[in-house]
Amino acid sequence: MDYLILVNRDNRLSKDYIPPSLVDANSLYKKGIKIDSRTLEMFNLMKKEALKHNYNIDIMSAYRTYKYQKKIYSKLIDEKGYNYALRHIAPPGSSEHQTGLAVDICIYKDDKCYIEHDISELDELKWIHKNAYRFGFIIRYPEDKESITGYNYEPWHLRYVGSAARYIHEHHLSLEEYKKLVK
Ligand code: DAL
Ligand code: ZN
Repeated sequence: MDYLILVNRDNRLSKDYIPPSLVDANSLYKKGIKIDSRTLEMFNLMKKEALKHNYNIDIMSAYRTYKYQKKIYSKLIDEKGYNYALRHIAPPGSSEHQTGLAVDICIYKDDKCYIEHDISELDELKWIHKNAYRFGFIIRYPEDKESITGYNYEPWHLRYVGSAARYIHEHHLSLEEYKKLVK
């Protein structure tokens, strides 16, 4: 598995691409979520360390098939229009969720489960954004990189890249910028 694979509108996966190492994420948020095995291993290490601070994190979405991405892409266009969808959801084939290396997190707190923009102000998220690189994760769609990534800030969307995460974190790069640097 190429943990540094770049998937975006200019670098698409084929309709038939299925990652080689999918396993069940054992998420309590939702049954049946699949994810790359190493990504899960590292997520679980991060989850364990977060728990030491009483931060309870879980996986709300990881691997998505081409077909499923197509479905949610069309749904968002129908609900919110094309211009909104453009900045919030990847067209089928261009979502890195299809690699199994992307994780959308959820945070359990006060008997509630927070997702998407509702996690923005939580201490748990601040901890994750500070520490995720130690487990090989980056914030894939940072707040100030929309012109490069093409997507609105997604504080919940982590991407496993392995050891490059430290450099990307310390230099505050998007994956697009990092890939250009190491080419
Ligand atoms: N929300 C991200 C960009 C995706 O759909 O893959
Ligand atoms: Zn995501």
